[in-house]
Amino acid sequence: MNSNETQPSSAPIETARIDLAPLSGVPSQSLVVIGSGLLGNFEAIVALEKYSTRFILTDQNTYAHWVKPLAERIGASVIQVPSGEQHKVLSSVEYICRCLMQGRADRRSLLINVGGGLVGDLGGFAASVYMRGIDFVQVPTTLLAQVDASVGGKTGVNLESVKNIIGAFQQPLAVVIDVATLSSLPKRELCAGFAEILKHGLITDEGYFNWVVEQWVVEQWQANRESFDWAQCVERSCHIKARIVAIDEKEAGVRKLLNFGHTIGHALEAVSHKSASPLLHGEAVGLGMLAETFLAERAGIAETGTAATIKRALTAVGLPVVLEGEASPDSIMSLIRADKKNVANKVMWSLVTKVGSAVFDQQVDDELVVESILRLQRT
Ligand SMILES: NC(=O)c1ccc[n+]([C@@H]2O[C@H](COP(=O)([O-])OP(=O)(O)OC[C@H]3O[C@@H](n4cnc5c(N)ncnc54)[C@H](O)[C@@H]3O)[C@@H](O)[C@H]2O)c1
Ligand SMILES: [Zn+2]
Repeated sequence: MNSNETQPSSAPIETARIDLAPLSGVPSQSLVVIGSGLLGNFEAIVALEKYSTRFILTDQNTYAHWVKPLAERIGASVIQVPSGEQHKVLSSVEYICRCLMQGRADRRSLLINVGGGLVGDLGGFAASVYMRGIDFVQVPTTLLAQVDASVGGKTGVNLESVKNIIGAFQQPLAVVIDVATLSSLPKRELCAGFAEILKHGLITDEGYFNWVVEQWVVEQWQANRESFDWAQCVERSCHIKARIVAIDEKEAGVRKLLNFGHTIGHALEAVSHKSASPLLHGEAVGLGMLAETFLAERAGIAETGTAATIKRALTAVGLPVVLEGEASPDSIMSLIRADKKNVANKVMWSLVTKVGSAVFDQQVDDELVVESILRLQRT
């Protein structure tokens, strides 16, 4: 598929705007704009004339589908990084900064990050450190990045096997979400995005959780891709995330709820990257939510039956519910102990109590954690 086939042909439709201004330190015009065909109308959404130079950061897959015509139209220089989580490292940030420097980017330059969570996290971090901070816009093109990664201002990279251990909180000037870009996303990547969507429902909104499971039928995914109301889904998820982040931008309290599934999930993701079958971030988060709910039930925190509901939902949206491979619970536990959310060597858990409600800063016995991971490995 080339960019001509996938470029939206119909007139752009903007369906929602979410104002991020309540966040501290956010440029007053900071917005999440959601719609279909917005890339074709980008210059009407972002005031490009303020900027001395424009750069687009992308990865190789996204470049082929969505970036070329946009870059030509708005006169942006393109910086390309290879696709893949193994490239979410400091050397990529150095490469991006070097490209910015060679392209004579100054404090009034704009970086536009077009791609999935990899490009958004890398580009957001590079923009936060280049000349101590330049403006950037997130243009997420995967479902996972549209519903979660692009909103909230977390940027960063991995170090060794520890996810996102180096990073910064830095809010973008705007998040421009064009749901038409989902038309070129492979099925596996599309399904992975549903992990974060289910997470939003599980921690705050049972009605949203049920709506998603009813609407997205993985067996008919090709027809469903056309009929599914992506704009409504992205808007509901972004609203949930923006509301939480507006209360607690730097994760001192309620924002920790968004880490549900990520303590075990990040460890599974990192371990799998050393194996022959790496998990996608969303797949690891789905497995993490299931294991953490086994854990919450055993610790008496979640209502009995919640894990079974989550397992059915993950299956319904096309996500794995069994951890394949030989990873030992010990190697997973040692990564959980290195998690950046821990305080004074104590693992702090965000767990659901039932569908639509969750708690944070929970402590549980390590034996229960090991038992929950072992349950994931049973077929
Ligand atoms: N900052 C945050 O708050 C936050 C939240 C959640 C996840 N993340 C991070 O996001 C990353 C995962 O993001 P992801 O799932 O988007 O993965 P990704 O960025 O690696 O993208 C997945 C794949 O899809 C390709 N792609 C992107 N858009 C496409 C399109 N429209 N059509 C075809 N192919 C396309 C990419 O090239 C890549 O191969 C992880 O590193 C995770 O830690 C960050
Ligand atoms: Zn995530």
